[in-house]
Amino acid sequence: MIKRKNIIKIAIDSPAAAGAGTLGKALSKNYNLLYLDTGKIYRFIAYLKLKFPKKFSQKFLKSKIKFLSSRDLSKKVLISDKIGIEASIIAQNENIRKIVHNFQLGFAYNPPKKFNGSCLDGRDITYNIVPDADFKFYITANVETRAKRRFLELKKSNKKITYKEVLKSIKNRDKNDLNRKISPLKRT
Ligand code: C5P
Repeated sequence: MIKRKNIIKIAIDSPAAAGAGTLGKALSKNYNLLYLDTGKIYRFIAYLKLKFPKKFSQKFLKSKIKFLSSRDLSKKVLISDKIGIEASIIAQNENIRKIVHNFQLGFAYNPPKKFNGSCLDGRDITYNIVPDADFKFYITANVETRAKRRFLELKKSNKKITYKEVLKSIKNRDKNDLNRKISPLKRT
């Protein structure tokens, strides 16, 4: 793997809707870093699984990830609660994690020359993907505060969604992300 020397690497981990993305984007803008919300990759894979259930295989996934673009990751459909829950299920699969892991390394260690470095946020970034990051953050907040944040965000595109539903799904995802065997969310 090609590793650029003398770059700034920032790693952020957090449970769902705690504000890691807001922090990551602000830091990246300020220090001119390439920013990657790694949750979006798992969300994109969840979207592929729901959209192409019959085609969904490791080979299919590898070919999609190889050509993954920022356009794919900014699809509006990825922010839905349904996709978030599915993402936390497929994120427990070791083979899927391996494919995503390799993709993330290029972003973290070999960002284009115009950037001073990289900033990644997710669940296993500080101890698994970029263990030698120059700065590491663990961002959290109580589950009600996070659910409220996510509810206000989701309400803009889905008028029917309720706070109760969002709270339930965030609790569900916390359970999946904290307790899974492979690369659980943890404070390093
Ligand atoms: O960050 P976000 O909530 O969009 O992530 C969606 C899901 O993707 C998480 O609930 C988690 O299960 C998974 N994920 C992960 N590892 C990461 C980032 C996200 O397992 N580094």
